[in-house]
Amino acid sequence: MQKKLTALLRKIEKQNEEELAWIVGPKTGRMLYYLVRIWRPKLLLEIGTSIGYSAIWMATAMEENDFGQIVTIESHTRRFGLAEKNIAKAGLSHRIRQVKGHAPEVIEEAMALFKPEKGKSSVGLDMAFFDATKQETQSFFDAVFPLMNKGGLIIVDNVKSHRFKSMLEFIDGIHKDPRLEVVEIDVGAGLLLALKK
Ligand SMILES: C[S@@+](CC[C@H](N)C(=O)[O-])C[C@H]1O[C@@H](n2cnc3c(N)ncnc32)[C@H](O)[C@@H]1O
Repeated sequence: MQKKLTALLRKIEKQNEEELAWIVGPKTGRMLYYLVRIWRPKLLLEIGTSIGYSAIWMATAMEENDFGQIVTIESHTRRFGLAEKNIAKAGLSHRIRQVKGHAPEVIEEAMALFKPEKGKSSVGLDMAFFDATKQETQSFFDAVFPLMNKGGLIIVDNVKSHRFKSMLEFIDGIHKDPRLEVVEIDVGAGLLLALKK
């Protein structure tokens, strides 16, 4: 990773303290970067941009893969604007498109921003990352699951930190879902990975 980008990520971590923007932090950021490098998604939907930190990590991996598009959704006006600036500073505006609004309502609008691959009329997601209001995670899943390609990966943050606060029902349900292969990773606030079979 370029030194310039590492310095920008440190700046965003500082901005996070001033703005209370709830970014994933460096450990989870790096794990998301690895997952994108390994999984090599073409189309990735993020719910919960905040100030753009996780999107920048993931788009950096796409840059190194030399392909991939992210569409990311944020409802908060100030954080949406700060993300726009941070993404531009990272030089990643060509990889990340932003949608302002509340998910799941704006998911259709977000999907319309993906360019279909050559020869395909519709788009399917290879990866999704949920990091917004925890109580709404089930509604994100219900809206996004049908849009995922077979073999696509849904990543959910905060399954450790919010397990007994607001995510227990969702986590229990997803582990029992026969359409998925699920694993949890003990990094940061806890990541859950659900592979669509
Ligand atoms: C935990 S932060 C996201 C952090 C970001 N993923 C990162 O690591 O840089 C959650 C963000 O989701 C936004 N949010 C919460 N519920 C939302 C929803 N239903 N639709 C869109 N944005 C939402 C909040 O305004 C907040 O900025």
